[in-house]
Amino acid sequence: NKWFDISSRSAFLLLHQCFKSMFEKTLTKEEIDKVFKNEKIKYQAVFSQVPSKKVFDYDYSLSNLMVASMLLKDKDLGKKLIETFELRKSEIPYSSMIERLEISNKGHLNLRVTDEYLKTILKLWIDSYSDSDSYDKDNERSKYLIENLKFQDDKDLNETERENKLLPIKNKKVLVDFASPNMSKELHVGHLRSIALGESICRILEYMGHDVERISHAGDFGTPLGIVLAHSLETKADYLKHIQDPTCKSNEPIIPTPKELSQLYTTSKNRTKTDEEFSKRTLWTAAQFQKGPPIYDDVDGKQIGGSDPIVYNAWLALCEASRIGFNKVFKMLDINVNERGESFYRDMLPGVIDELTRLGFVDISEDGRKCIFLDKTKDKESQVPVVIQKSDGAYLYATTDIAAIKHRVENGRQWVIVITDDSQSGHFQQVFKIAQDAKWLDRNETRVDHLSFGVVRGANGQKLSSRDGTPIALVDLLHESIERSKQATSLSKSFTRSEKLDITQNANNVEINRLLDTFENNNDNNYNDILNDEKHFQKIGMGALKYYDLTHRNNPYVFSYDSILSFKGNTSIYILYCYTRISTLLRRIDFNNLNLNPNLTEFKEFTEKERNLIFIMSRFSDVMKNTEQSLKPGVICDFLWDLSNSFHQFYEAEKIIGSERQDQKLFICLATQRILSTGLHLLGVETVEKL
Ligand code: ARG
Repeated sequence: NKWFDISSRSAFLLLHQCFKSMFEKTLTKEEIDKVFKNEKIKYQAVFSQVPSKKVFDYDYSLSNLMVASMLLKDKDLGKKLIETFELRKSEIPYSSMIERLEISNKGHLNLRVTDEYLKTILKLWIDSYSDSDSYDKDNERSKYLIENLKFQDDKDLNETERENKLLPIKNKKVLVDFASPNMSKELHVGHLRSIALGESICRILEYMGHDVERISHAGDFGTPLGIVLAHSLETKADYLKHIQDPTCKSNEPIIPTPKELSQLYTTSKNRTKTDEEFSKRTLWTAAQFQKGPPIYDDVDGKQIGGSDPIVYNAWLALCEASRIGFNKVFKMLDINVNERGESFYRDMLPGVIDELTRLGFVDISEDGRKCIFLDKTKDKESQVPVVIQKSDGAYLYATTDIAAIKHRVENGRQWVIVITDDSQSGHFQQVFKIAQDAKWLDRNETRVDHLSFGVVRGANGQKLSSRDGTPIALVDLLHESIERSKQATSLSKSFTRSEKLDITQNANNVEINRLLDTFENNNDNNYNDILNDEKHFQKIGMGALKYYDLTHRNNPYVFSYDSILSFKGNTSIYILYCYTRISTLLRRIDFNNLNLNPNLTEFKEFTEKERNLIFIMSRFSDVMKNTEQSLKPGVICDFLWDLSNSFHQFYEAEKIIGSERQDQKLFICLATQRILSTGLHLLGVETVEKL
């Protein structure tokens, strides 16, 4: 009686089992092994299920029998499987979940789920809080999430009631390394990618019950900082005054803005190209702060170790100044991440190098660098080694990353996810390989993923940049997106009569309805309040950027506000539009005060549009499991897009308010809205009540 615990993917596994028993009676032992012990086929059987295109009235089409015979290169076996199915299909133990099962002459297995199953799915989303152990975990968490999203009717729950709703769930200790900007540089659009993806992955894994640690592996340790610091110290930059001149009265140092900092970086960097003396000093400076805090003798107070104190304090000041800028942007984007920069691993580095040396991995080059040659099959001359220490003792990006993976595994992380642009794929392959060779990392025990993303291009096809070729600061992009979202959303427009006519004559239903909603909104008393509410547009603008980015996770994309903020296509605006339509509807009927009691047994047989919509809802837990494995939040975007499309079709074709099935339809709307808000939240997109 707990069949509704089973997501449709699990149901297919179950089906697989059914088949096994059915075929066991007909096929030889060898044939059985060939089909059922083949991992690839099992995989196909489970994953090749695609929602069918609804050509016939089937919900799923499973190609495994055909795929099986193809993969096994054994046509006869495929035929035999199909014949067996035809012969023995009456023996298949149908669950209350499957209404019909049929095999096409091409070997596709078509399946239709029962309405009873769909009703249960609906129930999972409309019953906000009932007896907690009668629901599957996914939904329990959905409800928790919904509570966190502060649904109106949840407000009167107290803390313990909220907590009791959480079921114990399988728990992996995950570390997600994202955002990770370099100190003294301004955040740019590449960081948007890392931030959007990282935050969403964290939310998804938390939702799936994992214990997630969010880490920003900030670049606070490398030579670039040596460059900026050497220059700043020499030119006696304002922000270091209190450090360089202790008698200086101004105890409030003047903190440079992110723009000034990145300007400083460019200026200093350019100097290294022409000024050799300066160049040397930058290296010395980096090697200094890498030694860590100065250490003094207890007795005579003389320095006995660590960095030069002025350099060290200047380094602290520079990092702090950068951090202020980063945090502002993080806050705007509503992300939560803890800084644990490269310097965190400082004290582990000598030990790591010693151990690698003991293991015989380390070669010293002619110019004194410590190198690791990874390819044992090639001679050293023909490969580029991983350098882990320079001749002056300075450490490199690879050194801290090797220490980081070691530290993360030692501290019990069972899954490590690092997010950077795709130029770093090689780097992480090397880092993981070294950690494996050293037996610090066992990939059977610990899952490690490097998630990479491509560049964001401008309209000219080149990497997105401002007119002078420098990268566009992320903060500017965010502000512009907020401004544009004001123009793009209908609230800020009041259509003239001729515009209205123009749109109604040319547009599809969605457009017309949007227009009508707009008129409704414009007559609303709160209209002006919303227009002046900066937060409202911040939600829309940030959400749109993140959502668009996530739909393009693996690919480079061309940045265009028009596409990002469009009401057409798979954008957050389109999804939010669906969401707000439901809000408007529920508000119009004062849903919260109707106190309807969902009694599913009284539900009328679903109309086709209702059924299509609820069928999409039923895929939610599959979508979540898929996303958890593939780490592609874009899968959720696609799902929400399907759901919204299906909702619009339902909404436009069927009368809701005043229909004899009003209650049933309102519940379907409510369920849709809850899934939308859950999904959007997982993508890091905040909902708004009006658009
Ligand atoms: N700071 C680096 C950058 O801006 C990203 C760091 C990513 N994380 C890591 N463990 N290396 O490219």
